[in-house]
Amino acid sequence: MSFPNNFLWGGATAANQLEGGWNEGGRGLANVDIIPHGKNRVPMTAGLINTLDFDEGENYPGLESIDFYHRYKEDIALFAQMGFKTFRMSIGWSRIFPKGDELEPNEEGLLFYENVFKECKKYNIEPLVTITHFDIPVYLIKEYGGWKNRQLIEFYERLCRVLFTRYKGLVKYWLTFNEINIILHLPFMGAGLFVDKETEMKGKYQAIHHELVASALATKIAHEIDPSIMVGCMLAAGNTYAYSCDPKDVFKALQKDREGYFFVDVQARGEYPKYALLQMEREDTMPIMEQGDKELLKENPVDFISFSYYSSRLTSADPLKNGTTEGNAFETLKNPYLTASDWGWQIDPLGLRITLNSIYDRYQKPLFIVENGLGAYDTVEADGSIQDDYRIEYLREHIKAMKDAIEIDGVDLLGYTTWGCIDLVSAGSGEMSKRYGFIYVDKDDYGNGTLERSKKKSFYWYKKVISSNGEDLN
Ligand code: BG6
Repeated sequence: MSFPNNFLWGGATAANQLEGGWNEGGRGLANVDIIPHGKNRVPMTAGLINTLDFDEGENYPGLESIDFYHRYKEDIALFAQMGFKTFRMSIGWSRIFPKGDELEPNEEGLLFYENVFKECKKYNIEPLVTITHFDIPVYLIKEYGGWKNRQLIEFYERLCRVLFTRYKGLVKYWLTFNEINIILHLPFMGAGLFVDKETEMKGKYQAIHHELVASALATKIAHEIDPSIMVGCMLAAGNTYAYSCDPKDVFKALQKDREGYFFVDVQARGEYPKYALLQMEREDTMPIMEQGDKELLKENPVDFISFSYYSSRLTSADPLKNGTTEGNAFETLKNPYLTASDWGWQIDPLGLRITLNSIYDRYQKPLFIVENGLGAYDTVEADGSIQDDYRIEYLREHIKAMKDAIEIDGVDLLGYTTWGCIDLVSAGSGEMSKRYGFIYVDKDDYGNGTLERSKKKSFYWYKKVISSNGEDLN
């Protein structure tokens, strides 16, 4: 058997794309609430539109999402039917601290997650919880300027303390920041930053430093409260290939990968890598680091490394190369050897094995694939069924690659959670029609639909995969 007996099969979600109930239970306004669907979404997530208010003409899909807030029992029961061993979800920060800087948490928010975790436990599903998944209270942006302000560390620390204490014994696996490297590409979503051309890079690196310190603090506090807690970092991964064997292309690919590895170098090895320090010095983006930061980072590396993988990336040293394609906020050239999804995301299962090996070779820590999947249009047939063979095919090939990485290459992998195990709002496009789930949710891009849940063909397939511990992929 290639997969260990305790391998954590499951699915992944995020509060802002799933929960809804944005103004219920004492929850405060969050950055993710005010990101619209439509043409302003990408500029907004990239911090190019400086607003913290709703605009009358816009549609905000995160407000209702798929209403997990009221339907979590039904949804978790469906996950249990598939045999999930784990369920990845995230905390809405503004549910616990509505403004972000309060001294006391909001009990209603805490109770909501407690009930969700208990519901998971009822079915022996292990919650895997991201502390922040693109999520920050609006008040912290308005009053403090988001993560570029050092005070955010203190507020995040308070949040962590409350979470680890309250959910001790209920949650073993925590992730500190979802896709921490997204801050370089979508700074409003990743850190509540608006882009100011003058200070853009400096501001970003300052915010990054704060997030890295906060992440190390979270690890420290978690271990103090309960030494059995496992804390992971989370990277938007996918190796970068060189466009050709021209050494210039190869070197460019190495540099591109370092843009992401840089974060994990700090979180897993506990120190800023030399190449990053030199680069920050050269480009005048060196963040202010306070006394004690270096020691904190060094003494509190993460226990495991988690990542999302949708595709590999391709780069060239020649700025004139064209043919770029879409790819999860990360620019990439079109790879002629790969096919692509309906949204242009390239499909590369072997790339997952390559990525697993590269990360494992570099850090030698347990890995966890916490996102992978195919966003596709689904059709509901006249009899109500959804024949999503394309999704099964995508997942099957990626699971095979993961199996090879374990069985042949010896990678230490804790688990696999497919992205959007139940259809939810797309982070990139704000659409509902970009579906990843095993469970279909009746809702369209404009908020119409009953929100009713139904099982796709892939639901039954994944159930079989899990019950055979990855041996039966047919
Ligand atoms: C990851 C994010 O980048 O990709 C998720 O962590 C996101 O939040 C997922 O939903 C898929 O991207 P998209 O744009 O298809 O929703």
